[in-house]
Amino acid sequence: MNRDGWNDWIAVGCAVFLAAFFRAAIAQPAPASAGFGATTLHAPADSTIPAGPLGDAVRLGRNIFNNPQAYVKPYVGASLTCSNCHLNGGTQAWGGPLIGVWGVYPAYVARSASVETLEDRLNDCFQRSMNGKPLPLDSAEMKGLLAYAWWLSSGVPAGSAVAGRGFERVTPPAAPPDPVRGKALYAVKCAACHGADGKGTPGANGAYVFPPLWGPASFNAGAGMARLDTAASFVQTKMPLGAGGSLSVRDAYDIAAYFTREPRPDFAAKVGDWPKGGKPKDAPY
Ligand code: HEC
Ligand code: HEC
Repeated sequence: MNRDGWNDWIAVGCAVFLAAFFRAAIAQPAPASAGFGATTLHAPADSTIPAGPLGDAVRLGRNIFNNPQAYVKPYVGASLTCSNCHLNGGTQAWGGPLIGVWGVYPAYVARSASVETLEDRLNDCFQRSMNGKPLPLDSAEMKGLLAYAWWLSSGVPAGSAVAGRGFERVTPPAAPPDPVRGKALYAVKCAACHGADGKGTPGANGAYVFPPLWGPASFNAGAGMARLDTAASFVQTKMPLGAGGSLSVRDAYDIAAYFTREPRPDFAAKVGDWPKGGKPKDAPY
């Protein structure tokens, strides 16, 4: 290998190390008090994974969640993993945890105006956030993801949500966001990891060290993260990775207004969303 080749490898190695470092930095313990009368969020210890085929299914689900390209490639179009948004493998409060989701589905979802099973909801993210295709309901992979959600929800009573379910919401600023100001802030606060062109930082083997925020490899126009309030809240509370909460709400809104409007894959079926009303104000379509 020539000298430049080695430099590339060293660069990739540093980036991988940095990503691991920042991920460890955001691994927050469960909050001390539950609040809202909800169950405290608590990730079970690995030692509680059952022995035998059920445990194998839990581990398959976790592997898919953290590395879908390696396990369910035909079903994912984006160069994202589930845990790029559902942080720490779906175990972080307000980081879109899977802990507790087992007992809160089936649920009515206004976007589809239908009662969705957990399988349906997982497949929403496959089609939108991952810009892919629904996983077959009877596949070992779908059963693995269900087993992982079931195991992570150990001890959460059916029907009760955990404190820290979903993503934290910040109160939008009174003034409309300014994407031009957001673009300038993006260059300073985000581009080092997500790239000046938003296309992320690829690592070895086609995996991404830092995930793309727009462009062909990112989530599509029908994804929750393409909505201003969802994106701004995620950015204010969780980004820059390892320094969540450091941006002002206004800065987060301006940055989100910039990157959510950059080009990304379309989602043709979005025209059928919210057929019976309930469309959130920040839906871009
Ligand atoms: C680009 C970000 C992103 C990616 C990638 C992503 N999701 Fe999601 N996911 C979301 C958002 C946003 C929501 C909506 C959360 C809310 O309503 O507060 C969501 C919701 C969910 C829910 C419902 C959670 C609840 O509390 O009801 C499940 C289950 C889920 N996703 C699974 C997955 C799986 C499995 C993958 C990978 C195949 C995935 N997601 C990839 C952003 C993402
Ligand atoms: C230190 C590197 C770093 C910085 C700086 C950073 N991020 Fe991230 N970001 C990440 C990583 C890594 C992930 C994936 C998290 C994981 O897999 O644990 C991520 C995930 C995301 C996601 C969800 C996944 C996706 O690709 O859509 C969004 C949105 C996001 N970042 C936006 C931002 C914005 C906006 C900024 C600037 C305010 C920012 N990030 C700054 C490293 C960074």
